[in-house]
Amino acid sequence: MSAILAGEAALEVDNTPFSDYESDGGSELSTQSLTSSIREHVYENGRRYHRKSAGQYYMPSDEAEQDRLDLAHHLFTSLFGGDLYKAPIGDKEDPANVLDAGTGTGVWALDFGDLHPGSQVIGLDLAPIQPEWTFPNVKFECDDLEKEWTYKPNYFQYIHSRCLSTSIKDWKRYLRQCFKHTAPGGYLEVVEHSLNHLYCDDDTLEGSALKKYITTFGECLAKAGIYADLNSEYLKASLEEAGFTNVKIYATKLPWGSWPKDRAAKRIGAINHLQLQSGLEAHALMVCTQFGGMTAEEARALCHDALKEVDNRSVHAYNYIWNVVGQKPV
Ligand SMILES: C[S@@+](CC[C@H](N)C(=O)[O-])C[C@H]1O[C@@H](n2cnc3c(N)ncnc32)[C@H](O)[C@@H]1O
Repeated sequence: MSAILAGEAALEVDNTPFSDYESDGGSELSTQSLTSSIREHVYENGRRYHRKSAGQYYMPSDEAEQDRLDLAHHLFTSLFGGDLYKAPIGDKEDPANVLDAGTGTGVWALDFGDLHPGSQVIGLDLAPIQPEWTFPNVKFECDDLEKEWTYKPNYFQYIHSRCLSTSIKDWKRYLRQCFKHTAPGGYLEVVEHSLNHLYCDDDTLEGSALKKYITTFGECLAKAGIYADLNSEYLKASLEEAGFTNVKIYATKLPWGSWPKDRAAKRIGAINHLQLQSGLEAHALMVCTQFGGMTAEEARALCHDALKEVDNRSVHAYNYIWNVVGQKPV
């Protein structure tokens, strides 16, 4: 008997393998019976990070970040004219099983479940930052998308995957798993943006702090093992390689700030401005300090200088949001 256990009752034997994400329910993972370790955090440079995501995901999961994710959801739906997706699913059509991969605060999954009461929606994430009370047709699970998925093959009529570009290390494998678990005739929609590049139609981006920010951020991400050159053509080719057909790219311009003249674009740019106020730091702080050799002060100065240019609208930068949609052949 081990000295530590002397005098204590023998430990019961459990033949199931250990998982950080274990629950009472076998392979059906649920937030209702999480082990306490999954709720542990680490603090770094004043931000709170999910402990189990260490070495895997470099953005915080604290309240400020959760607020930003909810604001970003509002930004996306505003950008898409109120729509939640580009896949050809009608408002009156309820795909039976839906997965929101890397759901974050779960806000997209909840909106989808509300709009499609006949769908069963699963929001999956590394971190348990979703609300405990959900609609009856929406549930949240904790697991790692880069491990072997426990769902049945051909299960989901629709998989939605948004803003995982700073998360997924092996896109090809991830997309192959998406394909395996999509039902024949079902859709995968990947929503992403470039990580190391901003667009600009005049010369204001050249030599700017925003350019320095995006370039430095991309370099640090690459050092962290993230594919920083991610773009819509790469995603389209990778979806096709995984087996999806009818792959379409929908590219929507997202202004970085309220500099556009067009009223609708100005409004979107203003919402994005709000999101960038905490978003620049949320994206860059950990990767620039851990992989770019910067101090926290230097990383914050990089973000601060870039944000000033968004504030004063001196740089006319924009990004593309790419919705890449593919269908699994019947
Ligand atoms: C930038 S957030 C986007 C959240 C959500 N998709 C949205 O658009 O609002 C990325 C999310 O992916 C989660 N994530 C990162 N790596 C993951 C992984 N390997 N498996 C599951 N979730 C992951 C993070 O915990 C975080 O909540």
